[in-house]
Amino acid sequence: MKDSFNREIDYVRLSVTDRCDLRCTYCMPATGMCFLKKDEVLSFDNLVFLIKSLAKQGIKKVKITGGEPLTRRDTVALIKSIKAINGIEKVTLTTNGIQLARYAEALKEANLDGLNISIDTLDPDEFRAITRVGELKRVLTGLEKAIEVGLPNIKVNTVARGELTEAAICEIAALAKTNPIHVRFIELMPIGLGKGCPGKTQEELFSILESNYGKLRPFEQRLGNGPASYFSLPDFKGKIGFISALGHCFCAECDRIRITADGCLKTCLHMDDGCDLKGALQTEDEELLLKQVFSAIRRKPEKHHFLESQGDSRLMSQIGG
Ligand code: GTP
Ligand code: 5AD
Ligand code: SF4
Repeated sequence: MKDSFNREIDYVRLSVTDRCDLRCTYCMPATGMCFLKKDEVLSFDNLVFLIKSLAKQGIKKVKITGGEPLTRRDTVALIKSIKAINGIEKVTLTTNGIQLARYAEALKEANLDGLNISIDTLDPDEFRAITRVGELKRVLTGLEKAIEVGLPNIKVNTVARGELTEAAICEIAALAKTNPIHVRFIELMPIGLGKGCPGKTQEELFSILESNYGKLRPFEQRLGNGPASYFSLPDFKGKIGFISALGHCFCAECDRIRITADGCLKTCLHMDDGCDLKGALQTEDEELLLKQVFSAIRRKPEKHHFLESQGDSRLMSQIGG
């Protein structure tokens, strides 16, 4: 599938729930979140039907995301089923890690191709303050377990909040020094509650990392399926990545579409360009489904307009990141 800017679309980000067991300040309000009702969320069968149909049209990579995907009980089974679909080459998961220790072995058994864990700080009190309810220890135990069972391509996602100190940046980056995992700093995007939150730029992070760890050298090989650019640091086992949608726009290489938990197809994270696929999924009407998908992909915007427009009014957890 090609969009009107000749970009090949072969990656789908599938949000399997809008629920989460954390309440990160830049993502969700402390109380009063209005979640989808059970019957509004795409069922296991809807999701498998969707990916089977998309795989026939050239989708090769699937990211399972949320909310928090491990709050849904059938997520591991879903990964197994999607892995078995003809044409699907990579299935990866992005999680907050809270329930990871419990699921790591099953995820390995399901042959998951990559695992991203969100860790914004290694300070337990600060972690509690950011996530409002989270216990850092649980996430770190999950990370250890994921490494121990041999899950491949483990990456840590850290949102580059303005409050990150030099010491905190170095401490998080050092996870990639001592472990065979990659650490990525994500530029704060003005989506949902992220709007107006102070952030650090890639350049600020770069200079802090270089003054502490030596020269960051571009790593040209592609790691994962996402938009990160990666760099090597001397004596580090893993790479340091940056995802900077505003500062280093990667829209020209965008190869993805998104499906929200209630079956809305979005062709851009930022733009409010949803197309409701739920009816076609529930009736398993593949012809209608593909007609809707092709038509949406034809309208995929050239790039985000974070700085010029409000964009989608949904929260990050409702879109899937
Ligand atoms: P892998 O490299 O395969 O792990 O994929 P990924 O980096 O896309 O996965 P992840 O779910 O960990 O996403 C990391 C961050 O990148 C999240 O904050 C996403 O919102 C952001 N991201 C992923 N794709 C896009 C995109 O197309 N546009 C923008 N603006 N942000 C994106
Ligand atoms: N800007 C950048 N990253 C964000 N995430 C959530 N909200 C934002 C935002 N406004 C991150 C999460 C997770 C990843 C999937 O997206 O922390 O690591
Ligand atoms: Fe949950 Fe992720 Fe949002 Fe935090 S950023 S509240 S972990 S969905």
